[in-house]
Amino acid sequence: MGYNIAIDGPAGAGKSTIAKLVAKELGFIYVDTGAMYRGLAVHFLKKGIVPGEVEKIEAACEDAKVELGYEDGVQQVYLNGENITGELREEAVGNMASVSSAVPAVRAKLLDLQRNLAKEKDVVMDGRDIGTNVLPNADVKVYLTASVECRAMRRFKELEGKGEVCDFEQIRQDIQERDERDMTREIAPLKQAEDATLIDSSEMGIDEVVKAIIALTK
Ligand code: DC
Repeated sequence: MGYNIAIDGPAGAGKSTIAKLVAKELGFIYVDTGAMYRGLAVHFLKKGIVPGEVEKIEAACEDAKVELGYEDGVQQVYLNGENITGELREEAVGNMASVSSAVPAVRAKLLDLQRNLAKEKDVVMDGRDIGTNVLPNADVKVYLTASVECRAMRRFKELEGKGEVCDFEQIRQDIQERDERDMTREIAPLKQAEDATLIDSSEMGIDEVVKAIIALTK
């Protein structure tokens, strides 16, 4: 059994940035489970499925194979053998991932893959249900969150930095809707595990959060 660190929390809380740094510091592998849901979402979109077509999503799970690999330590997602990492961050993919991740067949498809990785290796795994469902016996569990305003502002600045025109209020609303969907779905909803440490990063710097998590491993 590897040493397992589970980091859950809502969209935009900084999970992947933090988890990557913690993994680097400890020499662990970073596993981004959101990217796996996004990988399946790419498959659904390629088949012309739109969010809400649950039966088509279920059927499409049958011919999707999602695999993870690492290039220079960076996680890559393969869909039926093709590296689709570059497509994962698109807005349409994120929306499809958020909606399709509520479908039980989609979650079942990824659960074993996630558990097997954690069994074999020391991992920092981030997502929504890692501490509650995927790795209930994780050595360290963190629930990383921040206020909606703060998460929306970080996203706004990120997009602005890329030179994209964006509307703060629209971003705030999208984040709120995604939270609502992730937290209220029937299967494996986003919630803090009873034995998870709550870290609210609204007023914290990245290094501070990384240090706080590393301290939990000692
Ligand atoms: O973290 P992210 O934005 O890349 O995740 C995309 C979607 O995948 C998110 O809206 C909810 C879903 N997801 C999930 O249901 N369970 C996980 N462990 C990780 C992500």
